[in-house]
Amino acid sequence: MAGGAIRFHYDVSGSEFSLAGTASADVKAQLKKMGVPSDAIRRAAIALYEGEINLVIHAGGGAIDVDMAPGVINMAITDEGPGIPDIDLAMSEGYSSASDEVRNLGFGAGMGLPNMKKYTDSFDIQSQVGKGTSITMSVRY
Ligand SMILES: Nc1ncnc2c1ncn2[C@@H]1O[C@H](COP(=O)(O)OP(=O)(O)O)[C@@H](O)[C@H]1O
Ligand SMILES: [Mg+2]
Repeated sequence: MAGGAIRFHYDVSGSEFSLAGTASADVKAQLKKMGVPSDAIRRAAIALYEGEINLVIHAGGGAIDVDMAPGVINMAITDEGPGIPDIDLAMSEGYSSASDEVRNLGFGAGMGLPNMKKYTDSFDIQSQVGKGTSITMSVRY
């Protein structure tokens, strides 16, 4: 394998609500083992958890990729779901399109995307209706 990059890849199922959060929990455990500072782990884990939940409840699944370089955790969350028609609206605190069914499971507070932006040092979201959504974020330490 080339270079010294440390990478993690997860395929996130869109049908297994009971597994939602397992990929971000695994990344958190790996970062701890690697000795990443706890504040950076906490911020990355929050952002990844929110992204992972969104893959499950909004996108029908997708992928999470994390790669580590000295002093930075780079994260990508991608899906081929329905896309987001109005990103500014989706980014606003408390906005959620989640169904009552999803809300009854405890999701859909509308704070996921705002918190992903808040807890990371860089955040970019690209989305096309009918094509999917791609989020890249990083946490520096
Ligand atoms: N990956 C995604 N695919 C499609 N729509 C999404 C995705 N992520 C977020 N959204 C849209 O953005 C809204 C806000 O997301 P978020 O802040 O995480 O709140 P919540 O997940 O609680 O609804 C969602 O309700 C949904 O309409
Ligand atoms: Mg969410």
